[in-house]
Amino acid sequence: MKLLVLYATKHGATREIAERIAGRLRHDGLDADVRDVAHAGAVDGYDAFVIGAANYMGHWLKEATRFVSANTAVLAGRPVWLFASGPLGTELTDKDGKDLRETGAPEEFTTLRDALGPRGTAVFFGVLDPHRLGVFERLIRHLPEGKKLLPEGDFRDWAAIEAWADEVATELAPA
Ligand SMILES: Cc1cc2nc3c(=O)[nH]c(=O)nc-3n(C[C@H](O)[C@H](O)[C@H](O)COP(=O)(O)O)c2cc1C
Repeated sequence: MKLLVLYATKHGATREIAERIAGRLRHDGLDADVRDVAHAGAVDGYDAFVIGAANYMGHWLKEATRFVSANTAVLAGRPVWLFASGPLGTELTDKDGKDLRETGAPEEFTTLRDALGPRGTAVFFGVLDPHRLGVFERLIRHLPEGKKLLPEGDFRDWAAIEAWADEVATELAPA
């Protein structure tokens, strides 16, 4: 069983999540490669896929969406899992008490559920390092409420990420 973990990232947080997932899948006995979605190359040699991208302004990075559109024929016939990295901060719920790991899913997950029928989807908390931001992103943080909406820090829950990878491994290679 050969797996490919693909990621799209702007500032590196999602790449590190993808690398951790691939590492955990290997630890669980699977043969997993990890690659930037922009350099995915030929994918038809893989039996299953995990595809993740950062969420910006409610959307999965477009490189990931483009990859899925270009490879739907291969992906739709094989087990696929999707993830997004996004919510920031230490609160797990929004102001209405709703779980950010559900409300924080990028819009694309809805259409991708129809197109690919993924075995699973996940939203993981992400990272905001002000030093890595572009000019436009810095401007957004300078708006009123900007820093509250986009707090600085590394909010990734590695235990949750590894637990999710374990679920993928269990589905592919039940003990
Ligand atoms: C300008 C900006 C907009 C963002 N918009 C969202 C968003 O709509 N939803 C979300 O969950 N996270 C949002 N985030 C948080 C990022 O998704 C998070 O920082 C992510 O981990 C970045 O991943 P990357 O380093 O792989 O690019 C935003 C971050 C920035 C800087």
